[in-house]
Amino acid sequence: MTQSPEEVHPAAEAGKRRAAEGALALVRDIRFLGVGTGSTVRYFIEGLPGIQQHFEAAVASSEQTAALLRQAGIRVLDLNETGDLDLYVDGADAFDPHFRLIKGHGGALTREKILATASRKFVVIADSRKRFNRLADSVAVPVEVLPFARSFTARQIVRLGGAPAWREHYLTDGGNQILDVLHLPLNDPSGMEIQLKSIPGVVESGIFAHRIPELIFVAGGSSTVERLERPDL
Ligand code: A5P
Repeated sequence: MTQSPEEVHPAAEAGKRRAAEGALALVRDIRFLGVGTGSTVRYFIEGLPGIQQHFEAAVASSEQTAALLRQAGIRVLDLNETGDLDLYVDGADAFDPHFRLIKGHGGALTREKILATASRKFVVIADSRKRFNRLADSVAVPVEVLPFARSFTARQIVRLGGAPAWREHYLTDGGNQILDVLHLPLNDPSGMEIQLKSIPGVVESGIFAHRIPELIFVAGGSSTVERLERPDL
Protein backbone atom coordinates (compact mmCIF):
# COMPACT_ATOMS: atom_id res chain seq x y z
CA MET A 1 0.00 0.00 0.00
CA THR A 2 1.38 3.37 -0.85
CA GLN A 3 1.42 5.45 2.30
CA SER A 4 1.31 9.14 2.97
CA PRO A 5 4.04 10.34 5.38
CA GLU A 6 1.59 10.75 8.27
CA GLU A 7 0.69 7.03 8.03
CA VAL A 8 4.28 5.89 8.42
CA HIS A 9 4.70 3.69 11.47
CA PRO A 10 8.32 3.36 12.69
CA ALA A 11 8.11 -0.35 13.61
CA ALA A 12 6.52 -1.21 10.27
CA GLU A 13 9.15 0.82 8.40
CA ALA A 14 11.93 -1.02 10.24
CA GLY A 15 10.26 -4.29 9.24
CA LYS A 16 10.07 -3.27 5.59
CA ARG A 17 13.77 -2.43 5.65
CA ARG A 18 14.66 -5.84 7.13
CA ALA A 19 12.55 -7.66 4.54
CA ALA A 20 14.25 -5.66 1.79
CA GLU A 21 17.68 -6.57 3.17
CA GLY A 22 16.73 -10.27 2.91
CA ALA A 23 16.07 -9.85 -0.80
CA LEU A 24 19.16 -7.72 -1.40
CA ALA A 25 21.28 -10.66 -0.29
CA LEU A 26 19.86 -12.68 -3.22
CA VAL A 27 21.11 -10.25 -5.86
CA ARG A 28 24.34 -11.98 -6.74
CA ASP A 29 25.92 -12.49 -10.15
CA ILE A 30 22.80 -12.07 -12.24
CA ARG A 31 22.11 -10.07 -15.39
CA PHE A 32 18.60 -8.63 -15.20
CA LEU A 33 16.76 -7.65 -12.04
CA GLY A 34 13.07 -6.74 -11.99
CA VAL A 35 12.07 -4.15 -9.41
CA GLY A 36 8.52 -3.74 -8.09
CA THR A 37 6.69 -0.71 -6.75
CA GLY A 38 5.79 0.60 -3.32
CA SER A 39 7.13 1.72 0.02
CA THR A 40 8.82 -1.61 0.86
CA VAL A 41 10.58 -1.70 -2.50
CA ARG A 42 11.99 1.79 -1.79
CA TYR A 43 14.20 0.22 0.89
CA PHE A 44 15.30 -2.43 -1.60
CA ILE A 45 16.23 0.28 -4.13
CA GLU A 46 18.20 2.13 -1.45
CA GLY A 47 20.44 -0.94 -1.10
CA LEU A 48 21.07 -1.46 -4.82
CA PRO A 49 23.89 1.08 -5.39
CA GLY A 50 26.07 -0.89 -2.93
CA ILE A 51 25.72 -4.14 -4.92
CA GLN A 52 25.72 -2.80 -8.47
CA GLN A 53 28.57 -5.09 -9.44
CA HIS A 54 26.24 -8.10 -8.99
CA PHE A 55 23.78 -7.26 -11.77
CA GLU A 56 23.84 -5.68 -15.20
CA ALA A 57 20.62 -3.65 -15.27
CA ALA A 58 17.15 -3.33 -13.78
CA VAL A 59 13.67 -3.37 -15.30
CA ALA A 60 11.09 -1.26 -13.43
CA SER A 61 7.43 -2.13 -12.82
CA SER A 62 6.40 1.55 -12.85
CA GLU A 63 7.54 5.00 -13.92
CA GLN A 64 7.89 5.84 -10.22
CA THR A 65 10.31 2.95 -9.68
CA ALA A 66 12.21 3.77 -12.87
CA ALA A 67 12.77 7.31 -11.57
CA LEU A 68 13.96 6.04 -8.18
CA LEU A 69 16.34 3.60 -9.80
CA ARG A 70 17.82 6.27 -12.06
CA GLN A 71 18.22 8.61 -9.08
CA ALA A 72 20.14 5.82 -7.35
CA GLY A 73 22.43 5.52 -10.38
CA ILE A 74 21.07 2.16 -11.53
CA ARG A 75 20.92 1.39 -15.24
CA VAL A 76 17.28 0.90 -16.27
CA LEU A 77 16.30 -1.12 -19.33
CA ASP A 78 13.01 -1.91 -21.00
CA LEU A 79 11.66 -5.47 -20.79
CA ASN A 80 11.73 -5.56 -24.60
CA GLU A 81 15.50 -5.14 -24.46
CA THR A 82 16.31 -7.75 -21.83
CA GLY A 83 14.27 -10.87 -22.47
CA ASP A 84 13.39 -12.83 -19.34
CA LEU A 85 14.62 -11.65 -15.97
CA ASP A 86 16.72 -13.55 -13.44
CA LEU A 87 15.01 -12.20 -10.35
CA TYR A 88 11.97 -10.04 -9.58
CA VAL A 89 11.56 -8.41 -6.16
CA ASP A 90 8.32 -6.71 -5.14
CA GLY A 91 6.05 -5.94 -2.20
CA ALA A 92 2.47 -7.15 -1.76
CA ASP A 93 -0.72 -5.89 -0.20
CA ALA A 94 -1.67 -9.32 1.14
CA PHE A 95 -0.46 -12.91 1.03
CA ASP A 96 -1.90 -16.19 2.27
CA PRO A 97 -0.27 -19.46 3.43
CA HIS A 98 -0.35 -20.75 -0.18
CA PHE A 99 1.67 -17.70 -1.31
CA ARG A 100 -1.23 -16.27 -3.27
CA LEU A 101 -1.13 -12.49 -3.33
CA ILE A 102 -3.20 -9.39 -3.72
CA LYS A 103 -1.25 -6.55 -5.30
CA GLY A 104 -1.91 -3.25 -6.98
CA HIS A 105 -2.74 -0.80 -4.23
CA GLY A 106 0.08 1.25 -5.74
CA GLY A 107 -1.55 0.87 -9.16
CA ALA A 108 1.27 -0.99 -10.89
CA LEU A 109 -0.36 -4.43 -10.94
CA THR A 110 -0.26 -5.10 -14.68
CA ARG A 111 3.44 -4.41 -15.16
CA GLU A 112 4.11 -6.20 -11.87
CA LYS A 113 2.34 -9.35 -13.05
CA ILE A 114 4.20 -9.22 -16.36
CA LEU A 115 7.58 -8.90 -14.63
CA ALA A 116 6.77 -11.63 -12.09
CA THR A 117 5.78 -13.95 -14.94
CA ALA A 118 8.85 -13.03 -16.99
CA SER A 119 11.20 -13.85 -14.11
CA ARG A 120 12.89 -17.09 -13.18
CA LYS A 121 12.60 -16.22 -9.50
CA PHE A 122 9.95 -14.05 -7.82
CA VAL A 123 10.58 -12.82 -4.28
CA VAL A 124 8.12 -10.85 -2.14
CA ILE A 125 9.18 -8.52 0.67
CA ALA A 126 6.59 -7.54 3.26
CA ASP A 127 5.95 -6.67 6.86
CA SER A 128 3.72 -8.97 8.89
CA ARG A 129 0.62 -6.78 8.46
CA LYS A 130 0.36 -8.26 4.94
CA ARG A 131 -0.01 -11.82 6.21
CA PHE A 132 -3.55 -13.30 6.20
CA ASN A 133 -4.94 -16.79 6.63
CA ARG A 134 -7.48 -16.10 3.89
CA LEU A 135 -7.22 -13.55 1.09
CA ALA A 136 -10.98 -13.08 1.47
CA ASP A 137 -10.32 -11.44 4.85
CA SER A 138 -7.62 -9.10 3.59
CA VAL A 139 -7.88 -6.07 1.30
CA ALA A 140 -9.79 -4.88 -1.78
CA VAL A 141 -8.73 -6.41 -5.10
CA PRO A 142 -7.54 -3.75 -7.58
CA VAL A 143 -8.64 -4.37 -11.17
CA GLU A 144 -7.15 -2.34 -14.02
CA VAL A 145 -9.72 -1.58 -16.72
CA LEU A 146 -9.88 0.32 -19.99
CA PRO A 147 -11.48 3.74 -19.34
CA PHE A 148 -13.91 3.05 -22.22
CA ALA A 149 -15.24 -0.04 -20.40
CA ARG A 150 -15.17 1.12 -16.77
CA SER A 151 -18.93 0.98 -16.10
CA PHE A 152 -19.39 -2.22 -18.10
CA THR A 153 -16.57 -4.03 -16.31
CA ALA A 154 -17.88 -2.77 -12.95
CA ARG A 155 -21.31 -4.30 -13.69
CA GLN A 156 -19.70 -7.63 -14.63
CA ILE A 157 -17.72 -7.58 -11.39
CA VAL A 158 -20.93 -6.99 -9.41
CA ARG A 159 -22.30 -10.15 -11.06
CA LEU A 160 -19.31 -12.03 -9.70
CA GLY A 161 -20.27 -10.84 -6.20
CA GLY A 162 -17.82 -7.93 -5.89
CA ALA A 163 -18.40 -4.32 -4.87
CA PRO A 164 -16.21 -2.19 -7.16
CA ALA A 165 -15.20 1.37 -6.32
CA TRP A 166 -13.62 3.56 -8.99
CA ARG A 167 -10.22 4.94 -7.91
CA GLU A 168 -11.04 8.43 -9.12
CA HIS A 169 -8.45 10.91 -10.39
CA TYR A 170 -5.99 8.11 -10.95
CA LEU A 171 -4.54 6.68 -14.16
CA THR A 172 -2.11 3.78 -14.39
CA ASP A 173 1.17 4.03 -16.30
CA GLY A 174 -0.72 2.33 -19.14
CA GLY A 175 -3.34 5.13 -19.17
CA ASN A 176 -6.05 2.92 -17.68
CA GLN A 177 -8.32 3.18 -14.63
CA ILE A 178 -8.58 1.10 -11.48
CA LEU A 179 -11.59 -0.43 -9.74
CA ASP A 180 -10.91 -1.45 -6.13
CA VAL A 181 -13.18 -4.40 -5.47
CA LEU A 182 -14.42 -5.42 -2.03
CA HIS A 183 -16.32 -8.59 -1.11
CA LEU A 184 -15.16 -10.68 -4.08
CA PRO A 185 -15.66 -14.37 -3.30
CA LEU A 186 -12.04 -15.51 -2.94
CA ASN A 187 -12.41 -19.12 -1.76
CA ASP A 188 -10.85 -20.06 -5.14
CA PRO A 189 -8.41 -17.21 -5.93
CA SER A 190 -7.04 -18.78 -9.11
CA GLY A 191 -10.56 -19.32 -10.48
CA MET A 192 -11.44 -15.71 -9.67
CA GLU A 193 -8.23 -14.49 -11.32
CA ILE A 194 -9.26 -16.26 -14.53
CA GLN A 195 -12.86 -15.02 -14.34
CA LEU A 196 -11.80 -11.41 -13.94
CA LYS A 197 -9.31 -11.65 -16.78
CA SER A 198 -12.00 -13.04 -19.09
CA ILE A 199 -14.17 -9.89 -18.82
CA PRO A 200 -13.66 -7.79 -21.97
CA GLY A 201 -12.17 -4.47 -20.91
CA VAL A 202 -10.31 -5.86 -17.90
CA VAL A 203 -6.59 -5.39 -18.45
CA GLU A 204 -5.44 -7.26 -15.35
CA SER A 205 -6.41 -8.02 -11.78
CA GLY A 206 -4.34 -7.75 -8.63
CA ILE A 207 -4.93 -11.42 -7.75
CA PHE A 208 -1.64 -13.30 -8.14
CA ALA A 209 -2.72 -16.93 -7.77
CA HIS A 210 -0.97 -18.40 -10.82
CA ARG A 211 2.43 -16.70 -10.78
CA ILE A 212 3.11 -16.90 -7.07
CA PRO A 213 6.49 -16.14 -5.48
CA GLU A 214 9.10 -18.75 -4.68
CA LEU A 215 10.09 -16.89 -1.54
CA ILE A 216 8.59 -14.36 0.87
CA PHE A 217 10.61 -12.34 3.36
CA VAL A 218 8.27 -11.22 6.11
CA ALA A 219 9.34 -9.03 8.98
CA GLY A 220 7.46 -9.12 12.26
CA GLY A 221 7.57 -7.08 15.44
CA SER A 222 10.92 -8.38 16.66
CA SER A 223 14.15 -7.56 14.89
CA THR A 224 14.08 -10.76 12.84
CA VAL A 225 12.86 -11.55 9.36
CA GLU A 226 11.22 -14.83 8.38
CA ARG A 227 12.22 -16.47 5.11
CA LEU A 228 9.21 -18.44 3.84
CA GLU A 229 9.75 -20.90 0.99
CA ARG A 230 6.89 -21.80 -1.28
CA PRO A 231 5.21 -24.90 0.20
CA ASP A 232 5.44 -27.01 -3.00
CA LEU A 233 9.14 -26.44 -3.61
C1 A5P B 1 2.00 -1.72 -6.24
O1 A5P B 1 1.11 -1.67 -7.28
C2 A5P B 1 1.64 -2.82 -5.30
O2 A5P B 1 1.38 -4.04 -5.87
C3 A5P B 1 2.68 -2.90 -4.22
O3 A5P B 1 3.54 -3.97 -4.44
C4 A5P B 1 1.99 -3.07 -2.97
O4 A5P B 1 1.02 -2.06 -2.90
C5 A5P B 1 2.92 -3.02 -1.76
O5 A5P B 1 3.25 -1.71 -1.45
P1 A5P B 1 3.86 -1.32 -0.05
O6 A5P B 1 5.21 -1.94 0.01
O7 A5P B 1 3.91 0.18 -0.09
O8 A5P B 1 2.94 -1.81 1.00
